[in-house]
Amino acid sequence: MLPPDQVYQLLRNLTSPVVAITSARGNEKNGMIIDSAIRASIVPTIPRIAIFIHKFNYSHGLITESGVFGLHLLRTDQYDLIHHLGFQSKRAVDKLETVPHRTGRLGVPVLEECYAHFECRVVNAMDTGSSTCFLGNVEATGHGGTSMPRGDVMTAAYFRANLPKEWKPAYERLLAEAQGHAQKASNDISYEGWKPKR
Ligand SMILES: Cc1cc2nc3c(=O)[nH]c(=O)nc-3n(C[C@H](O)[C@H](O)[C@H](O)COP(=O)(O)O)c2cc1C
Repeated sequence: MLPPDQVYQLLRNLTSPVVAITSARGNEKNGMIIDSAIRASIVPTIPRIAIFIHKFNYSHGLITESGVFGLHLLRTDQYDLIHHLGFQSKRAVDKLETVPHRTGRLGVPVLEECYAHFECRVVNAMDTGSSTCFLGNVEATGHGGTSMPRGDVMTAAYFRANLPKEWKPAYERLLAEAQGHAQKASNDISYEGWKPKR
């Protein structure tokens, strides 16, 4: 086995584009950032996406309870949005209050500014101990508030290479904290299945 740091760096080759995930429950709505989204279907008429959401994130409860989420591909010029949604929790600030959005067909917030958005209904989920992998059926799509995508998609490699210098210490601190939480919970896996909401 290679040293853990080397394994982690190799696994970074598997990270997805940096995307914004939105969720809602009653009057509450929220947004966060992930780089663990996967195209989970090759059938054009049955588009599916899988996402890994850590249990300690506020969004986890909103997605689990509502059974829906919004996924937004972002552009390379959207660092401020990634900082706003991904470096702080809804527990500290109502993040979507200052982010232009509308309510989508499934009731999830749809961000006006993005490369493309997908509204998804959860059809299955897998517990990983520290996170849940939600499998979503894509039921509505678009380009946020525009009819055409513009710019380039924010990949994880681009994000890391061009992250503003002043945000690096916070990024590394938050990552180390998340890894600490995840390490404690990783082996505590439940094998109970997902119960559909309808
Ligand atoms: C580039 C980047 C990638 C991230 N990837 C993930 C991820 O794959 N899964 C996850 O649960 N959190 C991920 N996060 C962390 C969450 O976005 C962050 O903890 C956020 O504050 C959660 O917000 P919430 O508590 O309001 O839900 C990532 C953050 C950044 C900046």
